[in-house]
Amino acid sequence: MTVVVLLGAPGAGKGTQAEILRKRLNIPHVATGDLFRAAVGEGSAIGLEARRYMEHGQLVPDEITIRMVLERLSRPDAAGGAILDGFPRTAAQARALDEALAGQGARVEHALLIDVPTEDLVARLSGRWICRASGHVYHAIANPPAVPGVCDLDGSELHQRDDDRAETIRARMEGQLGALADVVEHYRAQGLLRSVDGCYSISVVAEALLVQLGQAAEREA
Ligand code: AP5
Repeated sequence: MTVVVLLGAPGAGKGTQAEILRKRLNIPHVATGDLFRAAVGEGSAIGLEARRYMEHGQLVPDEITIRMVLERLSRPDAAGGAILDGFPRTAAQARALDEALAGQGARVEHALLIDVPTEDLVARLSGRWICRASGHVYHAIANPPAVPGVCDLDGSELHQRDDDRAETIRARMEGQLGALADVVEHYRAQGLLRSVDGCYSISVVAEALLVQLGQAAEREA
């Protein structure tokens, strides 16, 4: 079982890189933000609860988040592991993940931090565009679509996330970076933390992550 935790501040590029790693490692990309947004879209009880926090840029309570992720990881497609994007986000979530994996004789194998200075994160989030059909991610400058407003991959309309408004971006930074530091420390103490400079292009960052995962040489073969 290969469990990879991708860590980084809001907008660091976790979702972008998780999609690249998913294709490479052939294990699912499990993003708590996407799970919450799907629940909001369905109008489920979890979605209604989560929306109260997400729209203010706050973390959803641990109990709801942990339950949702462990249920997702229990599905058959995650039997071989998963790339976790946006989870764990607190020390309590990290401990709960450790305990759940230990119960299956498994553990987090890699904790990869995508490190981007706070001043760059705001530009990344405010320039982000996402396709309605499948959530493919673009950036107005760093990764623009061929036709403005249209997804290259499925032709659907691009839109901006509600929480990518300037005031919510600020709240996400202020409210979430302290908890991220706790999670980074959790994996550093376990000797699992690897940090990658996220300021380079998407492909260079992907290469650095693959090197950390020991996949680069295999890909060249
Ligand atoms: P979530 O959806 O996880 O949001 P986030 O962590 O704030 O992360 P983002 O999705 O905004 O950014 P990203 O790092 O994936 O960057 P991306 O690849 O898109 O969570 C949303 C909310 O849900 C939270 O605020 C919270 O309320 C709740 N939540 C989620 N998980 C939770 C948890 N575990 N516990 C409690 N609550 C939780 O890239 C950003 C932009 O930059 C894109 O436009 C991209 O094209 C561009 N870009 C990417 N890489 C590069 C690069 N190398 N150079 C230039 N541009 C780049």
